[in-house]
Amino acid sequence: MAFLEYHVSEKSFICGGLLVHEDFVLTAAHCWGSSINVTLRDHNIYQQERTQQVIPVRRAIPHPRYDHNKWVNAIMLLQLRRKAYLTAAVSPIRLPWRRELVKPGMVCSVAGWGHLGMNNPVAERLQEVDLEVQRDEECISRYKDYNTTTQICRETKKEEGSFFGDSGGPLV
Ligand SMILES: *[C@@H]1O[C@H](CO)[C@@H](O)[C@H](O)[C@H]1NC(C)=O
Ligand SMILES: *[C@@H]1O[C@H](CO)[C@@H](O)[C@H](O)[C@H]1NC(C)=O
Repeated sequence: MAFLEYHVSEKSFICGGLLVHEDFVLTAAHCWGSSINVTLRDHNIYQQERTQQVIPVRRAIPHPRYDHNKWVNAIMLLQLRRKAYLTAAVSPIRLPWRRELVKPGMVCSVAGWGHLGMNNPVAERLQEVDLEVQRDEECISRYKDYNTTTQICRETKKEEGSFFGDSGGPLV
């Protein structure tokens, strides 16, 4: 799990991400700013931790057909300035194979340091929740813009789920 901090016109924002290779992090396309730092294995973002590694980003590669108005192809690779040290606490996650599908009934995990509520600050420690994948029909009736080709439907839990600041983080 990667913690991302980036600047947009001197304001600071956070996102989540995943280490997919020694020097590549996968995140959301809008997690982009003039300077981006990645912290690997950061449990508490306000504390220096023995296992954490802070690495600046060399190059941001958003999807070439990213459309920020429609949130289509909202995905981005970040090439790190150096390779991460692979340790017991830091290792890349395996990406799914091309035909590997996430099916209704499977339980996935969502994690991040995003805001804990509308008027609450960002989480100090990494939060995680298990959410069950649901049939597309559930989301078709819930959201008018749900697209079965590009989206995965998952259950909504009261007061638990992803929120501002969790973007770019995983559903694994
Ligand atoms: C990234 O880290 C460097 C060095 O600590 C710092 O100067 C810079 O402001 C940081 N950038 C962000 C976006 O946090
Ligand atoms: C769903 O997404 C696919 C792939 O981007 C696109 O071709 C299709 O037009 C979209 N469907 C709707 C209803 O927007």
